[in-house]
Amino acid sequence: MTRWIGTSWKMNKTLAEAGEYAAGLASALQGPLGSSGAVNSAGPEAGLQPFIIPPHTALAAVAGVLGDLANVPGGVRIGAQNAHWEDSGAWTGEISVPQAMDAGATIIEIGHSERREHFKETVETTRLKVEATLRHGAIPLLCIGEPRAVRDDGDSASYILEQARGALSGLSEEQLSRVLIAYEPIWAIGSGGRPARPEELLEPFAALRRHYGAHVEGLLYGGSVTLENAPALLALDDVDGLFVGRAAWELDGYLKLLELGRASR
Ligand code: PGA
Repeated sequence: MTRWIGTSWKMNKTLAEAGEYAAGLASALQGPLGSSGAVNSAGPEAGLQPFIIPPHTALAAVAGVLGDLANVPGGVRIGAQNAHWEDSGAWTGEISVPQAMDAGATIIEIGHSERREHFKETVETTRLKVEATLRHGAIPLLCIGEPRAVRDDGDSASYILEQARGALSGLSEEQLSRVLIAYEPIWAIGSGGRPARPEELLEPFAALRRHYGAHVEGLLYGGSVTLENAPALLALDDVDGLFVGRAAWELDGYLKLLELGRASR
């Protein structure tokens, strides 16, 4: 099983800050952490897949620093936080999948709850973006998650399965095998969120495992992941990896999470 441990920086970091983080990560992975297994033991058995999702402005710079590691199994993959489903055209303010890939992305994040809430991302647009991402050979990282009220009503599993089904309908087995799903309950995300207790994740992950486990590349958890709760989250049978915000915005936090990921394999 591959442990996917990644972070989205959301709307944070200047070019200088992004470059500094990337340079630090590159040297850490080639140093003690790398030599003890994160990158230097390249090959599918490496079992750890770090990924960084910078803001669009820093994609090329981060890829420039970490690019040599991007195609090494177990090396660092770079992602974009969003991309449009059309390849080009009159879509002011958007970037396309080919443009994101041109800047170094091999992962496209799709349907984060902040985009669904603030930018009216719908199930249909997530489906179009998954399709475009696969068409160009990148990995869709599909984010799904229920609001607090749905959780309180006990409907989390059916809500997220509906989101997944809508975004992934019509895909072949081969296409599905390249998809990552991140389950991120909205009530657990960000500074206003409450960290999920591991037992609260059992039912949604069991449902995802039952429907998609044998078909997709991996099932990730996201939402208020910290160094303290990461070991218990990684110990859940159905969790293949972590998608982290705040706890990985400082390089030191991310490196520690990578170590936890590697130790949990
Ligand atoms: P957080 O963000 O770890 O800061 O809660 C997670 C996410 O939005 O993916």
